[in-house]
Amino acid sequence: MGCSPDDLIEFLKTRRSIRRFRKEKVPMEIIEKILDVARYAPSAHNSQPWRFIVIDDRGILDELSRIHGGGKPLMNAPQAIVVACDERASPDSYLLDCANATIYIQLVAHALGLGTVWIQTMRNIDDIRKILGMPKYITPASILAIGYPDEKPEPRPRIPLEKIICINKYCLD
Ligand SMILES: Cc1cc2nc3c(=O)[nH]c(=O)nc-3n(C[C@H](O)[C@H](O)[C@H](O)COP(=O)(O)O)c2cc1C
Repeated sequence: MGCSPDDLIEFLKTRRSIRRFRKEKVPMEIIEKILDVARYAPSAHNSQPWRFIVIDDRGILDELSRIHGGGKPLMNAPQAIVVACDERASPDSYLLDCANATIYIQLVAHALGLGTVWIQTMRNIDDIRKILGMPKYITPASILAIGYPDEKPEPRPRIPLEKIICINKYCLD
């Protein structure tokens, strides 16, 4: 392992959501390398309910970009990955399992010098199902716009630790 704990912490702290991308497509081998690692995310009972849809069709990317105002990064992304969850594989926690796979994708992409942004899906599940031909038991947990970054955003602010930590019992509000 060529990575110290401090390097790993720095790596985690320097991931940013990227919303502007260069035009070149990410080679499919690289996307496969990322999805290969995403399979190692934890899931309830190791159910692995995630299925991945790689999208490189401009028309479909544009359609997805219009599902809501936050979808705009898909307009200039060369590709996207939809993390689609099979509810039948993990009925109690398919969304949590798929959120884990999503963050794995974001982190591996960051390690490879790629940028991603998570596009919200929860309010538009049926619209996305229709665009992508998904049956009812498949829920899109996330859409990740992915590509080579064409921006270097400043870090977003974080809530101070003292406002989010309790000891033993809930202590906030
Ligand atoms: C569940 C979820 C939904 C999000 N939806 C959107 C979205 O629809 N559009 C967008 O541009 N960013 C979206 N984001 C990205 C967040 O805005 C971003 O992660 C947050 O502002 C922190 O910035 P950072 O990722 O650069 O640390 C989403 C993130 C999560 C986890």
